[in-house]
Formats: sequence, structure tokens, C-alpha cells
Amino acid sequence: MDGATGKKMAREQGPMKTELGGVVVLDFGGQYTQLIARRVREQQVFSAILPCTTAIEEIRKLQPAGIILSGGPSSVYDKDAPKCDPAILAMRIPVLGICYGMQWISKTLDGRVEPVERREYGPAQLDLEQAESEILANFPRTMRIWASHGDNVLELPKGFHLTAKTANAIAAAENPTRKIYAVQFHPEVNHTEHGTEILRNFLFKVCKAEPKWNGAAFIEESVDAIRQKVGAHRAICGLSGGVDSTVAAVLVHRAMGDRLTNIFVNTGLLRKNEFEHTLEMYRERLGLRVIGVDASERFLTKLRGVTDPEKKRKIIGGEFIAAFAEEAEKLQKGVAHGEIKFLVQGTLYPDVIESVSVKGPSATIKTHHNVGGLPDKMPFALVEPLRDLFKDEVRKIGKDLGLPVEILVKHPFPGPGLAVRLLGEITTESLVKLRESDAIVTEEIRRAGLYEKVWQAFAVLLPVRSVGVMGDGRTYGLTVAVRVVQSDDAMTADWVRLPGEVLERISTRIVNEVPGVTRVVYDISSKPPSTIEWE
Ligand code: XMP
Repeated sequence: MDGATGKKMAREQGPMKTELGGVVVLDFGGQYTQLIARRVREQQVFSAILPCTTAIEEIRKLQPAGIILSGGPSSVYDKDAPKCDPAILAMRIPVLGICYGMQWISKTLDGRVEPVERREYGPAQLDLEQAESEILANFPRTMRIWASHGDNVLELPKGFHLTAKTANAIAAAENPTRKIYAVQFHPEVNHTEHGTEILRNFLFKVCKAEPKWNGAAFIEESVDAIRQKVGAHRAICGLSGGVDSTVAAVLVHRAMGDRLTNIFVNTGLLRKNEFEHTLEMYRERLGLRVIGVDASERFLTKLRGVTDPEKKRKIIGGEFIAAFAEEAEKLQKGVAHGEIKFLVQGTLYPDVIESVSVKGPSATIKTHHNVGGLPDKMPFALVEPLRDLFKDEVRKIGKDLGLPVEILVKHPFPGPGLAVRLLGEITTESLVKLRESDAIVTEEIRRAGLYEKVWQAFAVLLPVRSVGVMGDGRTYGLTVAVRVVQSDDAMTADWVRLPGEVLERISTRIVNEVPGVTRVVYDISSKPPSTIEWE
């Protein structure tokens, strides 16, 4: 899915039944906003992230049982400090303010908030006050929490009472009559003891939310919604071999059967045997109708002589869309007789909310391209059944839909494929070397039982020659870098401390089995400052 395309799209249809009565998270630009929403959903309560500036009528459309105000990097005294409509505090819907959310509530209701001399950052000890608290009830008197703030609430607004403090700050307060709760720390992060229970207390004791957001209900409602939307028309979908587009296709296939045609393009930049295997899986095991297009020649021709990473990405993006559009056109003129009105995309929730958050779209570090990028001139309406889901939720839905495990646990693979793991010019010979090396890395990681434990494991071919010795002769061959990383969401990543034996097997096999490669190195850089892919 091309995030940029997904981001421009506003929600067309209203909320589904299971989405009503959830929690609205109003975003002040905090780094944990998405995490708050995920924690709520883990309790089977739907949560939608909306910008803090969202109009009250929009919020009401979701009939929320509660509202959470996120943290944020600003001070409430900054000139352009983000704000909500203060009327949300008078909607008679319970509100929980977290960190900046607490400070905004306090300032708005005439409490006193001031910058502190020493910023509280990281772990701290929370001491519960004797006062009754609905969200902090029945916890130990002291707990470890995680906080990060530069302003403190010094005086609570009228009607609020203190429920907890740390050595430096008022840490929690509430006004049970108005159902407004505030915590200075982050209950959503794992380092806060009993954080989940605090959120559960808010959801179930205070908001009386119903835990009805689950996979089966989502599938049933989505299938109905897709049927209503597409009526008797046809749709197309670009498959990438990854989990998002596959789950989207299977869901839509459930709704409209063979009126959905999928297109899977072989860019010539896929991993060893991937095109054949994936095509077979789509057709034989998932029963999807798929057109497999072998466009490797045209991609490799266009890439000849290109070494600049961004140029590679742009060429692949453009070429992919051209190949996809041609197939769609053929279909439209042929069997589909002009009936194709919809394009299915595997857009996920993080792509949608990135554009609406107060932060605005994040700066482009690499031009991302994946299958399903929407050609502007194709007159199709979008079907994006996963646009309310996070990646781990997509995996769960895939499981509920009966997808084979191999697809659910598959490592992410960039749209431009091996092109961004082959530094310098792409040639058929170098692709063979990279493909073979990559297959060895994957095989050995699987053999060590690590495939499902790491985020990604792959090989990178470097245009760096070095001297070696093999048998009695001197060699002067290329270098393969092995990259194995751990991550939760690819925003940050750490290199995996692989056991020495695994590294040894990978290195020995690559040098022995891949002609022309004489040196193997292990990439020990984290993200940031490095990225996961090399280009
Ligand atoms: P970086 O290299 O930016 O990668 O740390 C973060 C994650 O994104 C994947 N990636 C891509 N995925 N299209 C995609 O769909 C792309 O163009 C693309 N580039 C990088 C990468 O594999 C990692 O999981």
C-alpha cells in the first residue's frame, strides 16, 4: 500500500456498529497516541484517534463511551499549543487526560500549570493518596510509573481531588462528579506498573464500555459493508505477497467472490521462488482469482545503469503502476466489460491517522512504494477494509479468516524489493547472488527457530570487493552484509544478538555456496540513526 495515497483518503462510510460506543483518543501530537489506541483495543473496545481540533459533532458520530486526551510535546503556554474545544469537558462523556491532556484540562478549568525546573523523565515512584479513586482503586500504595513532562500541575481546578503524587509532581487527580480523570504519567507504556488496569478501570468502571470489538464481529460487518458498497460491480486488487494486501483481498473475496480480480506483478526483484510460491498459494490455497504478470524484463531494463537509491525507488514505483494499470485496462476492455468500479487497497490505520494528527505527515525519509499505489488516472473508487486496523490486528483477522501461518508470520518486505538491498547497479548476475545469499539467511534463521522471533532477517549485497583466499588461490570477491533486526513497528529497531553458531553457519554457507561472494559482515546498527533497509 502506498501510504501517501491512503493518507489522502477521507473516511467515506460511517462507523460500523462495533465501532460505536468505543473511545475517542484526541491527539495532541504525543508519541504514544497510537499506543493508547492499541491498549484500548486490546480490551476489545474500539478506539479512534482524531485530531484534538475535531469538532464536537464529529466526535458525537462515534457515540463514544469515553474520551482520552493524549500526551504531547508542547507546553500549554506555547504560542501555538494544541487545544481541544473546551466543550468536550461538558459533554457528559467521561474524559481521561494523560500527561499534556492533564495539563490542558487543568489549565482550561482554571487550575495552575507551570514549567518545572527539572523535567521529570523516565521512571518515577507513584504514591497513592488516601482519597477515593475510581481509576486507581485497589492498587499497592506505591507503584513504578513512567512519566515524561516539562510542565507540572501546581493547583488542581475546583472540584478535583488529588489521588496520587510523585516526589516532584501532582501525578493523578479526578473529579468524579463530572467524570473527568487526569494522570500526569503514561499508563499506556509497559514500564508503568498496573497501567493496563488503570486503563481498564477507566474503560469498564467509569465509561461502562462494552468489550465488543473483536475479529469475528469485524469480519462479519466488513463483509456486509463491502457488499453494500460494491453492489453488482467488479473490483481489482494489487497483491504484494505481504500480509496486508492478502488479508484485504481475502476479506473482499469473501464479500464478492470472483468479481474481485487480483493482480500480482513480478518485478524481478522478489526473493528466491517467491513469485511462483505466492501465486500458487493465492490460487490453490486461498482460492483467489489472480493474474500473475511477469514484468521482470521491463523493470530490469528501466533500472539499467541506475545507482541512486531514490531514483531506483521512483522508477520501480512508476513502472509498477504502469504494469498494474495495463492489466487493469486489459481486464476492463476484455472479460470485465467496463464494469470495474473499485480498487481494493490494504491501507492500514497508521497511514490514515498520520495525516490527521497534529504533527502532520512525517517527513519523507525514503519514498515508500508498495503494491496498490493508486494511479491517479484510474477512475476507481477505493475499498480499504483494513483502514481501521493496526498491523497486529490485521494478522489476527488473517488468522480468523483461516490464512496459512506462513503468510501471517512473513517478514515485511519493501515494495522495491531486492533493488534496495543491492547497492549500486542492478544486474541479473548480482540479483542471483543476492537472492541466493538471502535464501541462506532465511533458511538458517528458520533452522535456528528464530524466524518468528525477529522482525526481519535478510542479506544485502555490497559493491565492495576484498581480497580472500580459497583453496590455493587468491580471490577478489563481493561482500554480503547480513541484517537481522528486532522491532515493534519499524519506527525504531535494534540489531539482534544472533548466536555465534548461527552467524557462523550463515557466513560459511554464503561464501561456499554463492559464487563471487568472499566476505560476509554482520550489520550492528540500530534505527535510529540507521534505517532497517540500506537504501
Ligand atoms: P526503513 O528502511 O525505513 O524501513 O527503516 C522500515 C520498514 O519499512 C519497510 N520498507 C518499505 N515497505 N515499501 C514498503 O512497503 C517501501 O518502499 C519500503 N521501504 C522500507 C522496511 O522493510 C522496514 O520493515
